[in-house]
Order: sequence, then structure tokens, then C-alpha cells
Amino acid sequence: MHAHDRTPSASASLRDWWEDRYAERDGIWSGRVNAVLADVAPSLSAGRALDLGCGEGGDVVWLAEQGWAATGVDLSVTAVERASRAAVAAGVSEQTAFVAADLATWTTAARFDLVTTSFLHSWPVPIPRDAILRRAAGFVAEGGHLLVTAHAAPPHADLPEELRSYRFPTPEEDLAALGLGDDCDVRAAELRPRTTTTPEGEPHEVVDSVVLVRRR
Ligand SMILES: C[S@@+](CC[C@H](N)C(=O)[O-])C[C@H]1O[C@@H](n2cnc3c(N)ncnc32)[C@H](O)[C@@H]1O
Repeated sequence: MHAHDRTPSASASLRDWWEDRYAERDGIWSGRVNAVLADVAPSLSAGRALDLGCGEGGDVVWLAEQGWAATGVDLSVTAVERASRAAVAAGVSEQTAFVAADLATWTTAARFDLVTTSFLHSWPVPIPRDAILRRAAGFVAEGGHLLVTAHAAPPHADLPEELRSYRFPTPEEDLAALGLGDDCDVRAAELRPRTTTTPEGEPHEVVDSVVLVRRR
């Protein structure tokens, strides 16, 4: 399913920047599930999942393969179209849905057993990230979980100019941004180091900020 919601309040420059980024080549991300999600999700009962800033759909497709009914939302129409194609190619189109929308304004009446967001960063054109995280917490069903994975340190050894002054969030800052009530338990708010491989094949150390909460 597609729903291309060109929300008028979305910043045109933000959308343009991401569309230009996606136009660089077909497949700017690996297409594989993010490591933290792959670590956390198997301990949860599969149900309805929502991935905010889903990019080209690697996490949504993987969740569907694990038995979740998964919806992805991303600002970029190009990314969402690629995510839909990836779901078809993986044979999980029936278990997935994608929406092109600005998370600053997008909302839904649905509630989800897992709300996840991986690397929802936007460095050249800022986004109201804290407000988006707070809205994300509101989409979690009773008994459901919210997983926020972020870069806590630069993800690449070779940083583009615009990323040099970007302030990466700490787990404590992301937890505070959620504005949780006393109906939520914090399962994790921590830094997790991880080793990736550079395009040249060299190992590179990165650090993820991981916040996992459960709504009772
Ligand atoms: C660094 S990418 C991460 C993509 C994916 N989660 C992954 O891990 O591969 C950030 C994504 O957030 C999306 N994004 C940024 N600001 C957004 C907004 N305000 N609303 C919806 N999506 C947004 C971008 O289009 C981009 O696909």
C-alpha cells in the first residue's frame, strides 16, 4: 500500500535535500536490518510494527519476514517507493505498508506493538527530532515497545562538511525527549559500540544510542 502524503507544512528544502540524497544512486543504505533492531525484536511477540524514517525499508521488510505487520513512514517518496519494491521482492508486500509523509505532522489513530526509529537524523536541514520522538511514544499500544536507535557519534571516518558540526544525541537526551508518563518502563538507555566496514573494507567503530521502553 502506498499513501503519498505531500504534507504542505513539510519543509520543501528538507524534502528536496533527502530526495537529492536518494537520487545519488539506487540503494544508498545496505537494505539489511539494523543491528540493534535485529537484537531487540526477537525478544518481543510479533504484532503490529511502525518504523519511523524507514528509508529504503530494510527494517520494515525484515520485521515482516519475522511475522510482524509492519508499516514504514518516510519523508522521501523515492525511499518509500524503493521500500515498497523491496517488500515485493522479499515476498512480504501483503504484510507491509509504506507512507511518504513528514513525521513532524503525520499522525495515525492506529497503535503499535513496536514503534521503532533507526538513525532519524537530518543534519543539513534540521528536523524537530525531539517532537517527533515524543509523537512516536504516543503511537505505542498498551503493552507495546518503543525502540529509538541513533548515532551517538559520527557514523563515518570520513565526515562530510555538513556533519562536522552536527550534535549527536545521547541516550539520556533521547529518553528525555520522549516525555514518558509513569505508565512506561525504561528497558534500556545506553550506548552500544558496533564495528562496521568502510567502503574500502576497513573495520570502523561506531557507537549507537539505544533507548528501549515498554508501555504497561
Ligand atoms: C539516516 S536515514 C535512516 C533510514 C533508515 N531508518 C535506515 O536505518 O536505513 C534517515 C531517514 O529519515 C528520513 N527523514 C528525515 N526527516 C524526516 C521527517 N521529518 N519525516 C519523515 N522522514 C524523515 C529521511 O528521508 C531518511 O530516509
